[in-house]
Amino acid sequence: MKVSTGMSKLDKMLGGGLPSNSVVLLSGGPGSGKTLFSLKYILEGARKGEKCCFITMNEDKDGVIRACKSIKGLSDIEKYAGKNLAIEYIPMSQSNISVQKFSEIITKYPQLDRVVIDNVNKLLMFSESEKSYRAYLVEIVNTLRNMKSSLLLCETDGEKSLDSGNFESYEADGVIQLMFLDLEEKPIRSLLVHKMRFTSFEPKVLHELKIDKNDVNLSEKKMI
Ligand SMILES: Nc1ncnc2c1ncn2[C@@H]1O[C@H](COP(=O)(O)OP(=O)(O)OP(=O)(O)O)[C@@H](O)[C@H]1O
Ligand SMILES: [Mg+2]
Repeated sequence: MKVSTGMSKLDKMLGGGLPSNSVVLLSGGPGSGKTLFSLKYILEGARKGEKCCFITMNEDKDGVIRACKSIKGLSDIEKYAGKNLAIEYIPMSQSNISVQKFSEIITKYPQLDRVVIDNVNKLLMFSESEKSYRAYLVEIVNTLRNMKSSLLLCETDGEKSLDSGNFESYEADGVIQLMFLDLEEKPIRSLLVHKMRFTSFEPKVLHELKIDKNDVNLSEKKMI
């Protein structure tokens, strides 16, 4: 079964959408579009009546709603927020952030369909070592595989290729990278699917990710 991302071009590239019961890593540098992409994805589920949970360590509920309301295609968020779309803000000031915290939130809502965690890197700050962070990550990924579909957002150096190894990308079932490309006179936001277990796709093809006041969407044209 495939899960629609809300972006028809991306769904088509993946043979209908993201494979179900998969945990997909969405990585990218600052401003590359991770949060808005994930909001587009979670709203797609919310509109279908799916039970969704958006967990963020970056901004509170008002901040999430404000970001959506600045874009027409996401501006209906208030219809779902607090109903079938839970927005859970975990402030960085909380000293007890751990994998248990995520598990508590996830288990608080029975039978979730879609989950977003923005973002997993912040867990590293609360881990004693890289080893314990990786162990957390494995546990989170295993828990989320029980849901219909999940996205883990991950900060990466916009310039660094994922091929050079970023361990979050080995643990996830799929990896979508967002980055800025300097192909024309101004940098263009682009999207690249690095891996997607259980499905076939055309690798190493870059697509433009358009973010404007109207929507967040994949452009029809291939870039490279
Ligand atoms: N209403 C809007 N109209 C046009 N562009 C917008 C609008 N809202 C946001 N953007 C663009 O989207 C970018 C932010 O995207 P987003 O917050 O999803 O990035 P991010 O990858 O999550 O960044 P960070 O790593 O800082 O969290 C902004 O920098 C801005 O350029
Ligand atoms: Mg963000």
